[in-house]
Amino acid sequence: MWTYFAEWLSFGVRWLHVVTAIAWIGSSFYFIALDLGLRQPHGAPPAGVGGEAWQVHGGGFYHIQKYMVAPAHMPDDLTWFKWESYATWLSGFALLFLVYYVGADLYLIDATRADLPVWGASLIGMAGLALGWLVYDGICKSPLRKNDTALLAVLFVYVVAASFVFSQLFSGRGAMLHTGALIATIMTANVFFLIIPNQKIVVADLKAGRTPDPALGKAAKQRSLHNNYLTLPVIFLMLSNHYPLAFATQYNWAIAGLVLLMGAVIRHFFNTMHRTHRKLWWCWGLAALIFAIIITLSGAPGWRAEAQAAEASQDARLLGDPARALGTSRYFEKAEAIIQSRCSMCHARAPLWPGLNHAPKLVYLETADDIIVNARLIDRQSVRSHAMPPGNVTGLEPAERVALARWIESGSGSYKP
Ligand code: HEC
Repeated sequence: MWTYFAEWLSFGVRWLHVVTAIAWIGSSFYFIALDLGLRQPHGAPPAGVGGEAWQVHGGGFYHIQKYMVAPAHMPDDLTWFKWESYATWLSGFALLFLVYYVGADLYLIDATRADLPVWGASLIGMAGLALGWLVYDGICKSPLRKNDTALLAVLFVYVVAASFVFSQLFSGRGAMLHTGALIATIMTANVFFLIIPNQKIVVADLKAGRTPDPALGKAAKQRSLHNNYLTLPVIFLMLSNHYPLAFATQYNWAIAGLVLLMGAVIRHFFNTMHRTHRKLWWCWGLAALIFAIIITLSGAPGWRAEAQAAEASQDARLLGDPARALGTSRYFEKAEAIIQSRCSMCHARAPLWPGLNHAPKLVYLETADDIIVNARLIDRQSVRSHAMPPGNVTGLEPAERVALARWIESGSGSYKP
């Protein structure tokens, strides 16, 4: 019963998290576009109006006016936009906790990188997020704050360095997810500790008839700018853990860095378009180039090449085997034995692995037929990437991965890897 509850709890929290994230990013996109698209007001606008926009939606027209800094009289019911952000972080943290801390042995820990106990890995994860925010906040408050571009460059290096540290401590998916969670924490903490409090001080000052300190608005604006450029990368990183070629290869931290650049370039296209109606098409060219580099990096030789070289001499006599079909391949017996000893305890109709009451993702790897049918997935998860076994808990050896690759390649007449 507990397994069912845990599974649905995890799904429920994920649902909540995606919905709140849509609400947050959606309203954020809307306000960025609105703000950048404001035009000089026509006619005689009310005192204090610095820009206006006309929009059409839902069967009516909207005439939006922005007061800078504030209207003469503060309205009674002022809508604040903050719970979208807070709820996204809270539900995200709950999901991180359920999947990566409760399930640390499968998702977070990779003993080949750092042999951490469950509590230790979870603690490092949480401390990393808290410390990560403090360092970011410190950098933003340093003299660097006077130069937006220099600040962004330093922050970029900082996030990539953090991602590298995560990649040395955690499994690939754990590292990518913590990089995403660090960015998300920075974004929500910007709202919670800076943007909203500063705005509250401004509102209080205005109500009391004082002139608000312009530094408050400036600092908030700078953090908003960071949040704007971080929205696309954070979503990419959160989704990346479903794609082993993104997270389970040795350059995952570099991929995280490139994703930051790619997301920022795409945002830049839209920011410029909203502000000036100019379309900087080169942004898409650059984004495509970065994506191509990411794809290349995910297939870069590394551990795979070393292991393959070692195995090549041993298996050389078998090369040229004419077997086409996977099932009749001469390499099949070996592959079958490997899968049965390294994967079946989890991927079985009645899994032996404690805590599993059905095969993960309902992928069965028990019988010869199971294995043949799933050749493509095995290739993705265990040959091209190191996603499976999770954290290599069952000790799949490099040479065994090569043996799996041999088998898959030998059957490539009937199947394209
Ligand atoms: C300790 C248990 C365990 C072992 C051993 C294990 N797996 Fe998995 N496997 C999992 C879990 C957990 C998931 C679900 C991962 C996820 O949610 O993306 C999974 C998912 C998969 C998937 C589906 C991935 C997807 O996203 O569609 C494949 C394919 C797979 N494993 C193959 C293998 C192979 C091949 C081996 C042996 C080399 C192996 N697994 C060993 C636990 C295990």
